[in-house]
Order: sequence, then C-alpha cells, then structure tokens
Amino acid sequence: MKKGLFITFEGLEGCGKTTQAKMLHRYLIKQGFPAIFTKEPGGTKIGKKIRKILLDQKNEGMDYTTEMLLFLASRAENVREVILPALKDGKIVISDRFYDSTMAYQGYGRGIDLKIIQYFTQLVVGDAIPDITFFLDIQPEEGLKRSTMFSNYHEIRFEEEFIKKKKIKGRLFLDRVREGYKRLVEKEGKRVIRINANQSREKVFEDILSIVKDKLDRNKNKS
Ligand SMILES: Nc1ncnc2c1ncn2[C@@H]1O[C@H](COP(=O)(O)OP(=O)(O)OP(=O)(O)O)[C@@H](O)[C@H]1O
Ligand SMILES: [Mg+2]
Repeated sequence: MKKGLFITFEGLEGCGKTTQAKMLHRYLIKQGFPAIFTKEPGGTKIGKKIRKILLDQKNEGMDYTTEMLLFLASRAENVREVILPALKDGKIVISDRFYDSTMAYQGYGRGIDLKIIQYFTQLVVGDAIPDITFFLDIQPEEGLKRSTMFSNYHEIRFEEEFIKKKKIKGRLFLDRVREGYKRLVEKEGKRVIRINANQSREKVFEDILSIVKDKLDRNKNKS
C-alpha cells in the first residue's frame, strides 16, 4: 500500500505546470520533505524514447489509438519504476502531467471513448492514484502565447494541432481539452482542483501551497 503523497499538475500547454511543479518540489525539499519530481511522457529510460516518438513532428499523422497507447506505455514504466516505489517509501511524488492528461487530450480532445481510457488507466496505474491534482486553468490563446514567447520551445505537437484546427469549423481542439479538464473537476472535485493560472507565478504558487499545506497538516494529524 502507498504511504506517501502523490500530487499531479495538469492543464493546457503554457499554463505553468512545469514552473509550478518545480517550485513546489524546491519548496518541499527546502522544508525537509522527501520529495521527487517526475514528468510525463518521459521519466524513465523507455519513457524518454517514447516521448521522442510522440513529439517528433515527422510522426504527425500518428493514429490516435497509437498515440494513446504510447502515452499509456510511458506511464506504465513511470508508475512501476519511479512513482510506486517512491510512494511506498513515504515520499512526496510530484508529477508534471499524469492520467488526467489522457482523459482530457485523447478522450475529450480526440474523442476516444472515456470508458476505454479508464479501463486501461486502471491497468496501468494500479494504486498510483493522485491525492491532489492541480488543474492550472488558462485560456488556450494565453497559454500558447506564453509558450511561444519563450523561444527554446520545440515540443509543438499539440500547438500545431491547435493552429491547424483553427481553420476547421466547430470547437477547437484545445477548447475541447479545456472543457474536458473542467468536467474532471466537476466529477472528481475532491481530487481535481482548479487553480486560476492567469495570475502571476507567485500568486498561483500561493494558491497551490495553501492546499498542499492543508493536506500535509491533515496527514500529520492522522498519523
Ligand atoms: N504565471 C505565469 N505568468 C507568466 N508567465 C508564466 C507563468 N507561469 C509560467 N510562465 C512562463 O510561461 C512559459 C510556460 O510555462 P511552463 O513551461 O511552466 O508551462 P507548461 O504548462 O509546463 O507548458 P507545457 O505544457 O508546454 O510543458 C514559461 O516560459 C514560464 O516561465
Ligand atoms: Mg511543461
């Protein structure tokens, strides 16, 4: 059984997941907590190879099912190799994206049946269910503006998608993804917490920290 605390960061590109996940990691380490940082896709040797395939522009025409299975394969490695062992050790695990990304992007975004994603997710994650998931909410345009403003940015798979789909009538891909995240907040409000990401880094971090501190206090009182 897991003993540690599992915190995940979710949201559209450029919403600030990596920034906030790393700020929280640094903060917890400074306070003396055993905390580790991991990210998806990636996080392990095999995961890094899968990440390369997923983000390679040459693979743009990839079948949506292949894409979903690759994300899940990367996650399976990360869960077995990194996340579960750390949680069993009582560590705090911070993950930059996790299974809600698959629900939001491949499910709500691409239109893959949510039940199928849930089924595979159970197989892949086992006990590794996040205790807190921060959904950093921002308008797609704002997030993309942030991402493209800072130039060492190569991972443009979903941004490309966004720009292309702009020309097609109907709802934009990233709008559907954002809607998906909002549905997850409605359905799992105890775990998935919406944070207004359209604020300064410091203010966003303040909102996150107050929730994390609360959880740590409650856990301390339990033990
Ligand atoms: N609150 C903020 N206000 C303004 N800029 C921000 C804020 N948070 C992060 N940024 C900047 O926006 C850019 C995107 O942030 P970050 O890389 O953390 O987003 P992300 O959610 O991890 O994106 P991706 O999904 O593409 O990995 C970075 O250059 C970061 O410094
Ligand atoms: Mg990031």
